[in-house]
Amino acid sequence: MRRLAVLGHPVAHSRSPAMHNAAFAALGMAEEWSYEAIDVEPQGLEERLHEMPSEGFVGANVTVPHKGAALAGADELSEVAREVGAANTLSFAAGAIRADNTDAIGLIRSLPGRVRGRRALVLGAGGAARAAIWALAKEGAVVDVGGVDVWNRTAQRAEEVAVRLGGNPISRPDQGTYGLVVNCTSVGLCGEDPFEQLPLSPGKFADQVVVDLVYGERPSELLRAAEEHGAYVVDGIEVLVQQGAESFRIWTGIDPPLDVMRTAARP
Ligand code: ATR
Repeated sequence: MRRLAVLGHPVAHSRSPAMHNAAFAALGMAEEWSYEAIDVEPQGLEERLHEMPSEGFVGANVTVPHKGAALAGADELSEVAREVGAANTLSFAAGAIRADNTDAIGLIRSLPGRVRGRRALVLGAGGAARAAIWALAKEGAVVDVGGVDVWNRTAQRAEEVAVRLGGNPISRPDQGTYGLVVNCTSVGLCGEDPFEQLPLSPGKFADQVVVDLVYGERPSELLRAAEEHGAYVVDGIEVLVQQGAESFRIWTGIDPPLDVMRTAARP
């Protein structure tokens, strides 16, 4: 058996096991491959990672709050993981841990072509935001993003990450001027009102693409309002599926069935 897992804290809510196991089943690989969720506290991460290969694990995803520590604990880094400064995908081979970041490419693959030539606004400055800023600044050429503004509640963090990753820190974004708005903060996860906590108004959405990385059982308040006002919305499940598909390719060398993963990932 080749085992995979997502390591997080908390991690019970993760849709990754359902999504990857559905892909293994659809491809007839379930006898040989499995994917599970493992709750690991921050202080236990390094030890757990080093035990995993001897238990049959060939790789792992890491999620909140381990994306920075996973990078620091790896023996080898992909160029994207090093530049973003965070890892979400680990591979164990020949006694070494290799770290990749598939959040960046996952976001780019989730976007429709409608952002062409227009600026992007990234809200947040944590690990998810760093991948988004890097992706839009570097790979944004694929979808022709005309620049990346970065807003964060703690302005100093916006400055630090924007300077490092190729975005422009901004304190008062003009919502209607962006072709793309990406919420990479955790606002909405615990029922917070996005229009109180973020520099956005429901009435100022327009013909834009709006992405919310927060996902739950229902569409987020942010996406509901954006769609109502004419925006094209992309939810966190789509980004999860796209980053998961890229991790799947790294571990197995096989292209997974996206529709099977999408259906399984929906709570
Ligand atoms: P992750 O690695 O998943 O991105 P993180 O590093 O904890 O998680 O980042 C969480 C992001 O959500 C940060 O940008 C945080 O803003 P601060 O840097 O000011 O802490 C943002 N965030 C969390 N709660 C928020 C709130 N109530 N209002 C606005 N931003 C919030």
